[in-house]
Amino acid sequence: MSALPRSYFSAIEKISRLLTRGEEFRTTMYSILVHLARLTGMKRGMISLYRRDLEEIHVDITYGIPERSSPIYYRLGEGITGKVVASGRPIAIPRLDREPLFLDRSGARREIDRATLAFICVPVKYAGETVGALSVDRAAKGDNLKTEVAFLEIVANMLAPRVHARRIQEENVRLREAIDRHSPLGTIVGNAKSMRQVAAQINQVADSPTTVLITGETGTGKGLVAEEIHYRSQRRDEPLVRLNCGAIPENLVESELFGHQKGAFTGAVEQRIGKFEQAGKGTIFLDEIGELPLASQVKLLRVLEDREFERLGGGRTLKTNARVIAATNRDLEREVAAGRFRSDLYYRLSVFPLYLPPLRERGADIILLADYFVQQMGRKVGKQISRIDSSALDLLISYHWPGNVRELQNCLERAVLLATDGIIYGHLLPPSLQAGTGGNSLVEGHGNFQQMVQAYETTLIVEALKKAKGNQTRAAELLGTTKRIIQYKISRYGIDYRKYAGVRIS
Ligand SMILES: Nc1ncnc2c1ncn2[C@@H]1O[C@H](COP(=O)(O)OP(=O)(O)OP(=O)(O)O)[C@@H](O)[C@H]1O
Ligand SMILES: [Mg+2]
Repeated sequence: MSALPRSYFSAIEKISRLLTRGEEFRTTMYSILVHLARLTGMKRGMISLYRRDLEEIHVDITYGIPERSSPIYYRLGEGITGKVVASGRPIAIPRLDREPLFLDRSGARREIDRATLAFICVPVKYAGETVGALSVDRAAKGDNLKTEVAFLEIVANMLAPRVHARRIQEENVRLREAIDRHSPLGTIVGNAKSMRQVAAQINQVADSPTTVLITGETGTGKGLVAEEIHYRSQRRDEPLVRLNCGAIPENLVESELFGHQKGAFTGAVEQRIGKFEQAGKGTIFLDEIGELPLASQVKLLRVLEDREFERLGGGRTLKTNARVIAATNRDLEREVAAGRFRSDLYYRLSVFPLYLPPLRERGADIILLADYFVQQMGRKVGKQISRIDSSALDLLISYHWPGNVRELQNCLERAVLLATDGIIYGHLLPPSLQAGTGGNSLVEGHGNFQQMVQAYETTLIVEALKKAKGNQTRAAELLGTTKRIIQYKISRYGIDYRKYAGVRIS
């Protein structure tokens, strides 16, 4: 190896000064490439970052390469850059025309006679790990490039801490974005264990074509969950089409689902496409599926099984790729037993059942949701609501919420409209809530606190009992307390532990 030419020392000196200036990463790196070219006769330069979380190499900074609208990537092991990062060893090519591995993905050398070019790529290593690559090309001189490789390795070592820092910073941004995207429940508010389970199920099923059957009492959020599944799937840019099977007359359901030809029945004055066709490759949400007439159930089953249907009044057989999500607040198993719902359709729909628990079983979620609706409504009507008073919290917690989240939402929206001093008081809530707790007999202070504690304890104990299948000793263990305390609370709060003896929790 020959000695380093003087100009290379100047380059090193310049680079070391650029690195200590504390300028932004891209500015610094670009200046370094410019000075490398000026002082050492290199023509083009690239600094690439290895994104280990994505397993791709991203060309981050370029010099002498035309601006491109799309970024340049290599997979690990792909092309020269990919090989250098994968192996952690430099590659020098004295004449580019003799190198089949050279991809020229940047397109910069398309117009150039490659026989006149030499190319060098060295790894950028930090703490023993390859974090990126530095590559340059220059005129081919028929030499072995050993001096240049040694020189560029020195430069790469100088850049390494900054490249490493940049990579970590980028990784963090991606991580944060991923967390935002996959926040456990998205628009669905909830922190109860049962709701976190729902979130996990949504995440698990969203991206597959699987049919989902959402069950739960009225107002528990079935519609919301259906939307969430659609928007978390690859189909999010395709239509989400709904049909409320209970809201249309029986004789029109099939025409809504599958469309009809002109003259198919009295009143069919022109051809019409149905919801399945509208949904295309998107999602069709069949709400209140329990209301679907038996005769139409057969046709729906066929679509689920063969992905085929016809418009009413004939015509060719149409194919569908739509994903089906169905919802019901009926107990479909009971409907099947009563002969009102076809068992084959039930089994076909319930491949992935998703149960939404009633609000009264979600413990502290009531308060979480109340806060959420108050803030949401406050923004909508331009009212600043600072808090929900304890008198209101008491009522919210002790009420049994037959209308679930929808009822809670209505109550609080009304209260926000009535509020005059930015505080939600108990008396702003509807009378139905007051009745449940004996109206205004609650005393301030301890009484309220105690009741909240009691509600929370009840939830904890019930959850533990479910897990322990009604076994009090086991429930006490799960809660980290003694059997004596559990027994005391169970009798004091009137919890029926025998009810949980057969409960299965999935
Ligand atoms: N966990 C939640 N977080 C935020 N909003 C919710 C949540 N659950 C329900 N909601 C809201 O409550 C209302 C009722 O929910 P939704 O219509 O999805 O219930 P549903 O189960 O479909 O009721 P139904 O059986 O009566 O059709 C909607 O405004 C919905 O946005
Ligand atoms: Mg609904």
